[in-house]
Amino acid sequence: MRHVLVTGAAGGIGQAIAEEFAADGAALTLADRDRTALDRVAERLGASANGPVGALTVDLTDPQAPEDLVQRAWKARGPVDVLVNAAGVYPSLDMADVSAADWDRLFAVNLRAPVLATAAFARLAVEHGRGGAVVHISSGSALRARPGGGPYASSKAALEMATRAAALELGVHGIRVNAVSPGFVPVDSACNPVSEQYAAAIGANPLGRAGTPRDIARAVRWIAGPDASWITGEILRVDGGSSTGALHLPRIWPPDGPRPADGGPQAPTHAPAPVPAPPAQAATEGHSA
Ligand SMILES: NC(=O)c1ccc[n+]([C@@H]2O[C@H](COP(=O)([O-])OP(=O)(O)OC[C@H]3O[C@@H](n4cnc5c(N)ncnc54)[C@H](O)[C@@H]3O)[C@@H](O)[C@H]2O)c1
Repeated sequence: MRHVLVTGAAGGIGQAIAEEFAADGAALTLADRDRTALDRVAERLGASANGPVGALTVDLTDPQAPEDLVQRAWKARGPVDVLVNAAGVYPSLDMADVSAADWDRLFAVNLRAPVLATAAFARLAVEHGRGGAVVHISSGSALRARPGGGPYASSKAALEMATRAAALELGVHGIRVNAVSPGFVPVDSACNPVSEQYAAAIGANPLGRAGTPRDIARAVRWIAGPDASWITGEILRVDGGSSTGALHLPRIWPPDGPRPADGGPQAPTHAPAPVPAPPAQAATEGHSA
């Protein structure tokens, strides 16, 4: 039975990740700074996860917190097999307005915490002669900034390099380090509110529907599991294809070629793809440890 530690487990994507591993029969330790929301998630999953779900309150802006968290989880429920770093903040901050305090806080949660948690996990795993898997949650922003998203995009770009660098060094110990990079996924977030206007503007992608937390969670479970045992240092984009290019730029028509009757190139349109129904029995899919 795998022991999986998930940070940001009270959040939209973090709790879907916890659900996915719970359905797989994993033992779970969930961590977040929002104790009330965390308790709700732990209570809901308690029945399906193996034994009581551990819930640890943590403020990842504290430099010591990531290492303490991994050690607490390890001590309370035994060796950690999978570490998922899903805690993150995405405040709107223009590059011309950002302060040192804003920048440091954002980087503390989005970059320093996953890096230090991975370091603590790796030290313990090596000391105990065990391998393991780390999955960071990056973002499409790592490749493409947007107005007001520069500091966030910078933190995720650095996280992607930290993913590859850690994978390079830790592979020899049987520790895989990967990242899942979500496209836009609407979540009901207290600490990361997103306006409806933004959500409407960002929704388009080649597959024609918004992502769901479950889309991300299933990719995390897969890349942390045995079916991905020869994959490390990878950034898995789970984004409906939005990182493939600029879908809504018009085609460039040849000067003498045929043109649309209305006189202008058209962006491709199609009906939104349906959201796939969740599988009835995720636990039967054979991804257990
Ligand atoms: N939702 C999206 O569209 C999207 C897209 C790309 C990447 N992401 C990434 O996915 C991850 C989860 O985001 P989400 O959309 O579920 O947001 P969310 O706000 O629902 O979840 C984030 C969680 O992190 C926790 N957290 C924040 N600061 C913390 C701190 N200092 N200490 C401990 N916990 C803290 C919050 O309490 C919250 O539960 C983040 O890393 C985010 O950057 C989200």
